[in-house]
Amino acid sequence: MDLLENIVIPATTKHLSLLKVILVLAMTIFLPFFGMLLGGTAFSSVFNSYGRRKNNRLFVRLAKDIIDKLAINRFVGVGLGVIPLLTITFCYAQLLFEVKVISVSLLFVSTLFLALAINFIYSYQNTFQIESLIETFKNIAGIDKHELETKLPEDITDYEFDLMNTNSNSGNYAVVLMLLSGFFFAGGTTIALFSDRYQDFQNIAQIFLSGATFFNFLFIIVMSIAVTGIGILFFFFNWQGGIHEMDKEYSNFTKKIAGNIAFTGAALLPVILFMSFMVIPDIALSGSVFVYTGLAFIALLLLCNFLYAFIKNSETKYIGAAFYMIILSFGLIVMKNQAAFGTASAKHLEEINLKAEELEKEKKSKTITTAGVDGEEVYNRICSACHKFDVKLVGPPYQVTVPAYNGDVKKLSGFILNPVKKNPDYPPMPVPSIKPKEADAVAKYLIEKVSGKK
Ligand code: HEC
Repeated sequence: MDLLENIVIPATTKHLSLLKVILVLAMTIFLPFFGMLLGGTAFSSVFNSYGRRKNNRLFVRLAKDIIDKLAINRFVGVGLGVIPLLTITFCYAQLLFEVKVISVSLLFVSTLFLALAINFIYSYQNTFQIESLIETFKNIAGIDKHELETKLPEDITDYEFDLMNTNSNSGNYAVVLMLLSGFFFAGGTTIALFSDRYQDFQNIAQIFLSGATFFNFLFIIVMSIAVTGIGILFFFFNWQGGIHEMDKEYSNFTKKIAGNIAFTGAALLPVILFMSFMVIPDIALSGSVFVYTGLAFIALLLLCNFLYAFIKNSETKYIGAAFYMIILSFGLIVMKNQAAFGTASAKHLEEINLKAEELEKEKKSKTITTAGVDGEEVYNRICSACHKFDVKLVGPPYQVTVPAYNGDVKKLSGFILNPVKKNPDYPPMPVPSIKPKEADAVAKYLIEKVSGKK
């Protein structure tokens, strides 16, 4: 991404570790929410069209409640979906600074698809609200269903027809866009692990080159199923007391369907976690990848246990436990992914660090103003009494001592202004009578002269 390349600058090790923390946080927010959006939209949309076709009000109501409770509202969609994904993309751009690989572009495309999907998801959600508004009005009007067919003005029936079209269309578009977003996300994050094969992945079409991408995409699908099922149970029955106006029939219906979805997803997750572990390239493997995978495995087994307890006893306290357990599992899986990415990119990150330090040094020496002061003149006037460049006088030769300052003018002028005891073979250097500006100038002169620039 040319655009990104302009805002991205090389970061030092300190900044890089901060970036990694941000990345883990953004991922831990993003993954569960993305899963709920993808799974929520998909199940809602399927239940919606099934319910309308079969004239089953339970399915239609479930479709509406799912999209209401799981997608919440547009602000949440942007705040927990698009912004974290943008952050993730930016972190990858920083961590893969100047690497020619398509990961960052793929993540960027994934963000675009997500932003589009969000648009459709909330207009899908909106159509349900308008529909129930119209229903309410019809009820207030107090005329019975058969009378209504004949009495409603044509533009209202037309509007309702359009509304239902928008409803099913935007649901479907949203699902397709979410799937695309998920696929590109899987591609971008997977390919970033193959640091020894970056030259093979330079063009978006090559996303298909990596079989590992498909496993990780599969992982996203399965985790969406699991987190959606658990999310439905959690937000319908547990969170803030759950939905209040549920009759027994609807409540049992929901518990059964969501319980099945949750258990299917949760039971498949350990299997798919194992598969996606197997496709991690050797260059990305390390002890911590093993440890996090193991911990995630245990968390997922506990999760299955909680779900099983819920399905068996129908006690809602297990739902809360299951919900927090799946978030914990995702956290661990994110740590595993980031540990793998960290290992794969370790060598490259070291290079970025060196580059950043060089840039910083350059910036520093540029901000030092030595205008009007001649470093060479200061040297001849004060220092040359005790120092030469190549031979020992009263003080050590500069050729020997100056390189240790590594080109850092400020550090050297700091010593000159305030000498401290260094080498036991020499007497201490007396404090020279010199102004800070002169110290900077002579320090700069010494560094340039020793490094052969002058
Ligand atoms: C009176 C003699 C004397 C003068 C004048 C003097 N120095 Fe020194 N300088 C020394 C001695 C002695 C040492 C060794 C100190 C030690 O190793 O503890 C030294 C050490 C140094 C070192 C090496 C520091 C290190 O990290 O090992 C630098 C650089 C240096 N002087 C720069 C200068 C500059 C620049 C000036 C002129 C502004 C200057 N000195 C003037 C005696 C002098």
